[in-house]
Amino acid sequence: MIRTVATTAYDDQKPGTSGLRKKVPHFQQENYVENFVQSIFDSLEGFEGATLVLGGDGRYFNREVVQIVLRMAAANGFGRVLVGRGGLLSTPAASNLIRSRGAFGGIILSASHNPGGPTEDFGIKYNIANGGPAPERITEAIFAKSRAITEYRILDAPDLDLDGTGETRLGDMVVEIVDPVADYAALMERLFDFEAIRALFAGGFRMSYDAMHAVTGPYAREILENRLGAPAGTVLNGDPLPDFGGHHPDPNLVHARELYERMMAPGAPDFGAASDGDGDRNLIIGRGIFVTPSDSLALLAANAHLAPGYAQGLKGIARSMPTSAAADRVAARLGIPLFETPTGWKFFGNLLDAGMATLCGEESAGTGSDHVREKDGLWAVLLWLNILAARRQSVREIVEDHWRTFGRDYYTRHDYEALETEAATALIDDLRDRLSDLPGTEVAGLVIERADDFAYHDPVDASTSERQGIRLYFTGGARAVFRLSGTGTAGATLRVYLERFAPGPDGLDRDPQEALADVIAAADAIAGIRKRTGREAPDVIT
Ligand code: G1P
Ligand code: ZN
Repeated sequence: MIRTVATTAYDDQKPGTSGLRKKVPHFQQENYVENFVQSIFDSLEGFEGATLVLGGDGRYFNREVVQIVLRMAAANGFGRVLVGRGGLLSTPAASNLIRSRGAFGGIILSASHNPGGPTEDFGIKYNIANGGPAPERITEAIFAKSRAITEYRILDAPDLDLDGTGETRLGDMVVEIVDPVADYAALMERLFDFEAIRALFAGGFRMSYDAMHAVTGPYAREILENRLGAPAGTVLNGDPLPDFGGHHPDPNLVHARELYERMMAPGAPDFGAASDGDGDRNLIIGRGIFVTPSDSLALLAANAHLAPGYAQGLKGIARSMPTSAAADRVAARLGIPLFETPTGWKFFGNLLDAGMATLCGEESAGTGSDHVREKDGLWAVLLWLNILAARRQSVREIVEDHWRTFGRDYYTRHDYEALETEAATALIDDLRDRLSDLPGTEVAGLVIERADDFAYHDPVDASTSERQGIRLYFTGGARAVFRLSGTGTAGATLRVYLERFAPGPDGLDRDPQEALADVIAAADAIAGIRKRTGREAPDVIT
């Protein structure tokens, strides 16, 4: 029986950079999930009888919300829901399923790299028919609906068993439980030279892949160990856990410390990689060398033609604004366009759909291509493996060769987490107010040449997104960018992105913190970071 339930609106269901993210207890408030899911459905049109894809990264509360969404999808008229077995689907695998199965859209349950558990983070995100995150037009509609909602529809039915595969019915709707890995693994086999990678492993190549107890464990075991013949044990922390083993499933040098230390130690494997909670981020470390995500994007772009899926070359490269300019140099060399978009994967969707870009990337460990409409952690790892198999050089050799050819964009990001929202907002507002006065200012030995607040004009749909980050350009080419995170769940997180280009051939092997010391000092002096936040140092440096 379908029930219409009266409800009261919440005023804080505004989707951020990537869906709605809150602490689990916040989501557990009465009807909080139901309100948001109904607001998603109320913002869409024409899904009667259509297919919805549903799955998540397995974090705490995943299973409960899967059951709620299933019952609400049935009550709202969807014809079929494809749900990953156990309620699991990595974000890129969900994107692929939406596309390959011609679904109307998908609901992905994840808070990405944020911690999980009864008092940690949860998230709900809606993706459209191209497989990508809903554009702002839809997320704004969802927010508007959520503020005015008075009722939701739900089917009265017992919980479904999610752990088998196959079809069952929920009211008039078919629920199809699918193997979360199969279609995705098949897609990877089409894009990459699995035979060459198998030969690489057969020749004794050693790799460590840290799945961080998150969703990619089953994907990595199947692809790396079963299909590519990497020795058992290549995949570390491969069992998804609701609390990710108590860690942040964030593949950076702080939270993937063990992997980093293993890669820096004597006798390290040839290649180290990790992925985040929902499988869309990647961390790449060679023996004795960490590859900055911005460099990784540039390097993948320069070498993508070595993989069968990209042998035709690239149509263009897109990167988020705070990502370094390393990819720009590759695009220039290849004679293809480079697009600079605001932070967040949703801004790449139009460029990919229009065939204007093939590869996309963000400095926050996200890389992907037009094979899906999300960033894709394992995809990046496999492209790296394909390149390593084709070039038969070490990661270090490949990176250093890249720097010699293109020069090096020294890069670092400093994050100040859980700041008082007011102080953080004031810092940004104040910078924005001073933008026109800043050019010509000298600070920490650097002179500001240009300062602006990034606005993006989408070349495909002509929409404009303003206030996407304060940019300071210094004479000599260094840059500092300031923006507030749109994914945090506690206070505000200030991100400061710093970079400088070194053309080489000398000075290519410095420590980025040292190579950027004056830019870091200038950023602090201009924005008054320490003074305003009371923090002596960033919480996370990547
Ligand atoms: C962060 C990253 C951004 C990424 C997003 C979702 O967003 O900076 O590049 O797209 O997570 O993974 P932020 O917290 O900065 O808004
Ligand atoms: Zn993620």
